[in-house]
Amino acid sequence: VSAKAARTCEPPISDLIARALHTPGLISFAAGLVDEEMLPAKEVAAATRRVFAKASGRLALQYGTTPGLPALRQALVAHIAKLEGQPAARMGFDADDILLTTGSQQSLYLIAEALLDPGDIVIAANPSYFVYTGTLASIGARVLTVPMDEQGMQVAEVGRLLQKLDAANELSRVKFIYCTSFFQNPTGLTLSLRRRRELLDLARRYSRGHRILVVEDAAYRELQYDGRALPSIKSFDRANQYTVLTQTFSKPFAPGLKLGYTVMPPDLMQQVLRLKGNHDFGSANLSQWLALDLLRSGAYRRQVQKLKKQYTRKRDLLLRAMRDSFPPGIQWTMPQGGLYTWVTMPANVDTGPNGQLFARCLAQGALYVPGEYAYGPDAHGQIDRRHLRLCFGQVRTRDIKEGVARLARAMTAVLGKGEEAGRG
Ligand SMILES: Cc1ncc(COP(=O)(O)O)c(C=O)c1O
Repeated sequence: VSAKAARTCEPPISDLIARALHTPGLISFAAGLVDEEMLPAKEVAAATRRVFAKASGRLALQYGTTPGLPALRQALVAHIAKLEGQPAARMGFDADDILLTTGSQQSLYLIAEALLDPGDIVIAANPSYFVYTGTLASIGARVLTVPMDEQGMQVAEVGRLLQKLDAANELSRVKFIYCTSFFQNPTGLTLSLRRRRELLDLARRYSRGHRILVVEDAAYRELQYDGRALPSIKSFDRANQYTVLTQTFSKPFAPGLKLGYTVMPPDLMQQVLRLKGNHDFGSANLSQWLALDLLRSGAYRRQVQKLKKQYTRKRDLLLRAMRDSFPPGIQWTMPQGGLYTWVTMPANVDTGPNGQLFARCLAQGALYVPGEYAYGPDAHGQIDRRHLRLCFGQVRTRDIKEGVARLARAMTAVLGKGEEAGRG
């Protein structure tokens, strides 16, 4: 096989999902899946009937174009403008700057492919969305990480890292900064308004010999439950030069459509379109026609509202159950949106798949994602193993309390063992 194939690993979570499927009665907080009972089957059936009642039915069954359905890209300009709270005309991009892809994952992949040679550098938060850091490793990129705090990625640390790379003559290898700016996977944390501007400023300032982009992954943006809606980093990039913004229909609507959309600078678009042309010359046209109908008919908006209510309920249930039953010494994030909370155990606990906590949770019948999957080595080469990710998207409402009780029993047992809480 090629060097690239040899470098490419299966995402670690595949194994976790397989375990969940094969363990009856298991309550899984692991996979980042959406609430199955809420999936909008009726709404999509109605949209399908509408699309096929007209001439659009035949068009939807034909090949589309590589960038995707123009009317949908136009509708998405208006959709993003609404999220930004700005008139579409002021955003600095139009439908030609939007690419429709097979989920936002494909777009993230194509951007990496368009920009990175083996040995090139991407700067990312620690922890980060591990499927994408896996993609970057497969392409041969070096992912250099900076820590996070309650305000999201520590942008001052990005500045220090860029300075260090500049001093070491490595700036030419830095191609982009990857940032999940809203309700991050895996921590649930959001990049503060101030840091949004600062990150863009840094990218601009260090774009000397070549451009350093900010790749802003906003997959969870629309699933906001409380707090103030923030503008994207992209919204500050008035000339559409330094940022790529990826969004998706997967999390706020239905992953089965597998449809994502990306705003990017025109010169990058040309490169990415060539690559996408080689991959598939366009994503599923039928999904695009359905998405257009769902946006125009208001069914999309109503579904997002419903989901927000349901996920608020589930998040609150989860956080309350954790507060009531987790043993002392454990901390977790309070996400204002998205699907995850991030739990920090005392320093001597190893949450990894070979550690005691994971084994005890499985024995109790509960599953989480070990935090180490989302961690790259820090500046000292260390990987943090104290964390775990809990997803409240897929777990059934009626199972949340029991699932947390199972986690709590395993935690209490491991913490009670003191010295032996470490590697198992
Ligand atoms: C942070 C983040 N970005 C992107 C994606 C990709 O999703 P999709 O390809 O379905 O749009 C996911 C999926 O879990 C995600 O968590």
